[in-house]
Amino acid sequence: MIYITRRERFSAAHRMFREDWTDEKNQDLYGNCSNPNWHGHNYELFVTVKGSINPETGYLVNLKDLSRLLQNAVIEKMDHKNLNIEVDFLKGKILTSENIAIAIWHELNFGIQSLGAELHCVKIIETENNYVEYFGN
Ligand code: NI
Repeated sequence: MIYITRRERFSAAHRMFREDWTDEKNQDLYGNCSNPNWHGHNYELFVTVKGSINPETGYLVNLKDLSRLLQNAVIEKMDHKNLNIEVDFLKGKILTSENIAIAIWHELNFGIQSLGAELHCVKIIETENNYVEYFGN
């Protein structure tokens, strides 16, 4: 089994909040990330896939194909967007890095199988001090 990771970046606005809570209660839990007027992050997305090397090419997957998949399935939909209101696959979610990572996993899983690999990890870095990894369960 061999693993390979592709990094992509996107910048986006979001707000973490529950609609059924007051602004004050949201502020208590989510702090500045609950600002009703939104705020932004420069996110980094690391997607790790695993599988066997194709003996003909020497590749697990062609990174150009993996990058194209990430761009089409995720980055173009999220980059310079408001994640709460403009991204179909994030609608109705509390937009923590945890939930964003899980949603991205589901967007990518089938496409990565189509490339002949298996999705291993979706990692989201929201700030330089924190990151989240999702391994599919
Ligand atoms: Ni935030």
